[in-house]
Amino acid sequence: MAPRRAAAAAPFPSAALLLLLPLLLAAASAGLSSYFGTKSRYEEVNPYLVRDPLSLGPTAAASRLPAACAPLQLRAVLRHGTRYPTAGQIRRLGELHARLLRRPAAACPAAAALAGWQMWYEESLDGRLAPQGRRDMESLARRLAARFPALFAARRRLVLASSSKHRCLQSSAAFRRGLGPSLSLGGDEVEVQVNDALMRFFDYCAKFVALVEENDAAMCQVNAFKEGPEMRKVLEKVASALCLPAEELNADLVQVAFLTCSYELAIKNVTSPWCSLFSEEDAKVLEYLNDLKQYWKRGYGYDINSRSSCILFQDIFEHLDEAVEESKSSKPISSPLIVQVGHAETLQPLLALMGFFKDDEPLKANNYIRQMHRKFRSGRIVPYAANLVFVLYHCDHVKTSEEEYQVQMLLNEKPLVFLHSNETVSTYADLRGYYKDILENCHFKEECELPKINVTAIDEL
Ligand SMILES: *[C@@H]1O[C@H](CO)[C@@H](O)[C@H](O)[C@H]1NC(C)=O
Ligand SMILES: *[C@@H]1O[C@H](CO)[C@@H](O)[C@H](O)[C@H]1NC(C)=O
Ligand SMILES: *[C@@H]1O[C@H](CO)[C@@H](O)[C@H](O)[C@H]1NC(C)=O
Repeated sequence: MAPRRAAAAAPFPSAALLLLLPLLLAAASAGLSSYFGTKSRYEEVNPYLVRDPLSLGPTAAASRLPAACAPLQLRAVLRHGTRYPTAGQIRRLGELHARLLRRPAAACPAAAALAGWQMWYEESLDGRLAPQGRRDMESLARRLAARFPALFAARRRLVLASSSKHRCLQSSAAFRRGLGPSLSLGGDEVEVQVNDALMRFFDYCAKFVALVEENDAAMCQVNAFKEGPEMRKVLEKVASALCLPAEELNADLVQVAFLTCSYELAIKNVTSPWCSLFSEEDAKVLEYLNDLKQYWKRGYGYDINSRSSCILFQDIFEHLDEAVEESKSSKPISSPLIVQVGHAETLQPLLALMGFFKDDEPLKANNYIRQMHRKFRSGRIVPYAANLVFVLYHCDHVKTSEEEYQVQMLLNEKPLVFLHSNETVSTYADLRGYYKDILENCHFKEECELPKINVTAIDEL
């Protein structure tokens, strides 16, 4: 009885809605995609790539050093390209979708549109690299080679290392393909070296694993925000759009619906009906939820998050030092190109260790409004295929010997402004000096040792 009554009451609005749907969906995707956090497309930070994936963009000329400077070494730390959802996300999506299918769809246009959506994700896709992810990496490789032609010239030596995760190995292979066959991989000709000690340092840091990763209490701000008034409002709106009682939804299911909207855009380049459940205001709330988690698990929330990356930070500077020494004694540079493929979880702590994107106030469950204009926005920092590049230059015709070696850092192909100078180019000595304390006093083994006493309370962190 109930379905028939609803169908009779609704023909006009639902027909109008169907006609409007493509327009509404197009508008939805344009508005929402900048709030996808760690599930953001790389194009979100460099929109000119939508038209031409090989374009070097408007900053290509502006960021160039004087002609008297030649690049000696390039170190790139990359996040893998666009990936499929994890098995857990796919399972939760399957459950939510099945629940919508069981309901009389005609009563509810949004639920009807979602019931018509095909659930095509299988759990076996579990976080693997999507075809778009291969394209992300191939194009990135080609753009980097075009930006630094001397370093990527034929027969230069490339060291390519990767996290052991399938999506990272596949990303490394795609990056390698993008460069073409002319580079040398050195004597051993190993395509990709697996290096979890540097790319997944967090797994090897007992203190981080025990006190953050496996400690529910460490995510108290995230959990509080899930139950807070902003998420409550989004949840009630979504429940009402789906004609479900609010009790049948929770923050995690709402997040899965939003994630699906982001995955469908990143993986298939389509605006799925899942997006129509959310307004731009809702998307901002869900972005904050994602950023809160990154902040407390990978960012400034706890010191150990970033301190655990000092092993990678020091490795970067050891290779820069080595290149400077080799250059000073007129030897060939043994590692002109080092490319390492890891995760958002590799890059975020490293950037925090260096002090980038730090807000005056911590991100908390109760300061959503005050954090509206925060620096810490994961989607801007670590979208898919995010990349942090250190370039060491040797410059001729300089006034002092210090000026002979200069560095530039690029995040997602845009120059980063150094914290010690507010400039985008620094002498190597100044940069090294600014991070002297981390280079000398941060020791992975000691930082990551579990405290002797049994601490599970987070105020001990
Ligand atoms: C993605 O979709 C947009 C809009 O439909 C289109 O302009 C663009 O070419 C597509 N991109 C790819 C890589 O297919
Ligand atoms: C960089 O600029 C900011 C904002 O203009 C200023 O607060 C800061 O002191 C500057 N830092 C340095 C090292 O000049
Ligand atoms: C720490 O204490 C908790 C609860 O008191 C206990 O469950 C846990 O096993 C202890 N951990 C260690 C490493 O002793």
